Amino acid sequence: MRIAMTGPTSLLGRNVLFELFAQHFEHLDDLDLILLGRNKPHTPLRERVKAMFEPMTPACFSTVEMETVFEFLDTRAQYMDIDLQQEKLNLNPEDFQNLAATPIDFFFHIAALTDFRDLPIVSETLKRTNVEGTRRILDLAAQLQLGEFEYVSSAYTCGLTTGNIQPDFVNIHQNFRNPYEHSKLQAEIRVRLFAKRTGTRCRYFRPSAICGRLVRPPFGLTHKFDVFYAFGAFFLGAKLQSIAWKDRYKKPMPLDFRLLYSMESGLNIVPVDFVARTMLHVCLQSDPAESYHLVNDEETPHDLYVPMILSALGVEGVTRVDSICGPLNPLETQYYAKVGKLYTPYVMSRPILFNTDSVRPTLQAIALKCPPITRQNFALLMDYAKQHDFGATYLDPQLA
Ligand SMILES: NC(=O)c1ccc[n+]([C@@H]2O[C@H](COP(=O)([O-])OP(=O)(O)OC[C@H]3O[C@@H](n4cnc5c(N)ncnc54)[C@H](OP(=O)(O)O)[C@@H]3O)[C@@H](O)[C@H]2O)c1
Repeated sequence: MRIAMTGPTSLLGRNVLFELFAQHFEHLDDLDLILLGRNKPHTPLRERVKAMFEPMTPACFSTVEMETVFEFLDTRAQYMDIDLQQEKLNLNPEDFQNLAATPIDFFFHIAALTDFRDLPIVSETLKRTNVEGTRRILDLAAQLQLGEFEYVSSAYTCGLTTGNIQPDFVNIHQNFRNPYEHSKLQAEIRVRLFAKRTGTRCRYFRPSAICGRLVRPPFGLTHKFDVFYAFGAFFLGAKLQSIAWKDRYKKPMPLDFRLLYSMESGLNIVPVDFVARTMLHVCLQSDPAESYHLVNDEETPHDLYVPMILSALGVEGVTRVDSICGPLNPLETQYYAKVGKLYTPYVMSRPILFNTDSVRPTLQAIALKCPPITRQNFALLMDYAKQHDFGATYLDPQLA
């Protein structure tokens, strides 16, 4: 089996790799892996990928298994430096020859810029990375011997459309919460046109808001603290304006703060290992469908998880509101200029019901159920986020 993947260092991409190794550990001789990503100035892609596996020992791989995985990553996996923003991806001609020489069973295009800001410079970069970048990947794919092409899209390509959403719902003329959503749909449309034009078997995977691991340990694991985690990072930062680092979780903090979120709806939160595992099984079992929502069965009410984030941080005095009357206080001004600006459109949305009919046969075949985001599971996410200070370790004076 020969698999190529963009975005191996992404939250989702690395979990696809974890799943792949966990499932095929006994058959690594039959696996060819081509990782298309970015070298960093002092860290080649190979080392970046190996470092991602460290938190997986021993919860997922024993020390001995990890040695086998590392040997595979050192000697068998191929690494290709690409930049989605550059013409022809800046792919070195030798790498291209290698890619083109042998058939590839599955080509996963996972890489994307996941920036929710609505700024001209960000819109421009989203266009170059997500839209033009996908076009460049498709130009490459057209020259390869591909079994299937897998595009990771987003459930939120439905934009501001609410209610029942089918997994192949496409309406480029609707309104979007941000240029990111728009860019993901534009890219998906390019893939759909490519499939029609070339006859290549393409699949479209649409995850909702991805959180840390909840199917298998290490539970809560993520290196990316955006979307709902960003609320936590903001309020942790607010606490640190007046509370010492060592007391950040010990001392409660009273605030005078009005937080906009809807009581009628919730956020569809899906664990990253559920998404990775389902995607792999859909492909490996040659599922007959094309478009898939990779989402939780139900939205998690904002009124469940937001108070849990605040309580995990010991933040008191936050009042939920439907609208804000009167001037914002300084902390509210900071919040609504940054975190609130990005995420308020998600927490004020009407309910969205993502149809999951197409993914159900695979889930039944592998007896997998999406872990619901109950209080207990959300507490696992919060425990992990707190251990990693919601990604805000830069606020630690020791590390600054
Ligand atoms: N996270 C979510 O909640 C969510 C929800 C729905 C859909 N999705 C989709 O799922 C996929 C994975 O998301 P994620 O959150 O796991 O991603 P992520 O952690 O933000 O990682 C983005 C990946 O894209 C790569 N990348 C960005 N710009 C690039 C460029 N110019 N050239 C080459 N590679 C580039 C990054 O490489 P470096 O490591 O080198 O920066 C990284 O591997 C994306 O397509 C995203 O749109 C995500």
